[in-house]
Amino acid sequence: RTDVVTIPVVVHVVHNPAVPAQNIGDDQVHSQIAVLNRDFRAANPDLDKVPEVWRPLVADARIEFRLAALDPEGEPTDGIVRVPTGRTSFGFDDAVKSSASGGSDPWPTDEYLNVWVCQLGGGLLGYAQFPGGPPQTDGVVILHSAFGTTGTAAPPFDGGRTATHEIGHWLDLYHIWGDDDGACSSDDKVADTPNQADANTGSPVFPHVSCGNGPHGDMFVNYMDYTDDAAMFMFTRGQSKRMDACLEGARASFLV
Ligand code: ARG
Ligand code: ZN
Ligand code: CA
Repeated sequence: RTDVVTIPVVVHVVHNPAVPAQNIGDDQVHSQIAVLNRDFRAANPDLDKVPEVWRPLVADARIEFRLAALDPEGEPTDGIVRVPTGRTSFGFDDAVKSSASGGSDPWPTDEYLNVWVCQLGGGLLGYAQFPGGPPQTDGVVILHSAFGTTGTAAPPFDGGRTATHEIGHWLDLYHIWGDDDGACSSDDKVADTPNQADANTGSPVFPHVSCGNGPHGDMFVNYMDYTDDAAMFMFTRGQSKRMDACLEGARASFLV
């Protein structure tokens, strides 16, 4: 694929009226879309912080995101759905994705990327459903204070990178360390990301070696690690290929 794919997005702002901050503003939503359109086009201004050894691997994923202009009935929309809830917070259980459990029902998941923004408990910044799962829960969920770059977005997760990371999962990317708790036995099925033991957090100093991956070590500047928003800057070519394969396979409905 050489052309750019544009993914229509609907953002469900699920908020408790007793906590007005949860009802984030349109500007905060727009700030998130802007981050996505930089990060997935390798147009992010912090790209110059990628260590020199990995610059040749930086990929323009050729994916753009646009708030939906038409709703499922074909009526004009701003792509933002605001739904009040009686719940004080949500968890990993997908309740936010259904009006029957205090959330908001998805728009057709083969036509829209559904993004739910809400209060999350347990220190969860967000979570995603991989391709191939049940349509009624497909999409990504993001903590409102880790969404976008303005409004309630709070450091160190105020760079919009939680959504970049979760949409990476939605497009079939695994965590860069392979989720094997330091074993070095499983990886992310991407050849150009170094095998890495475990998640990195905060803002690591280059190089951080694990799993015998020296001298350059872990690619902790990758969006699919767990570093702070201000410390992650890139997808690789291999990751971009995996996202391409997803868009030609399980998510091919977005190519038309
Ligand atoms: N699923 C991860 C979590 O909830 C998201 C990590 C996002 N990282 C970031 N720098 N924004 O912890
Ligand atoms: Zn993740
Ligand atoms: Ca790898």
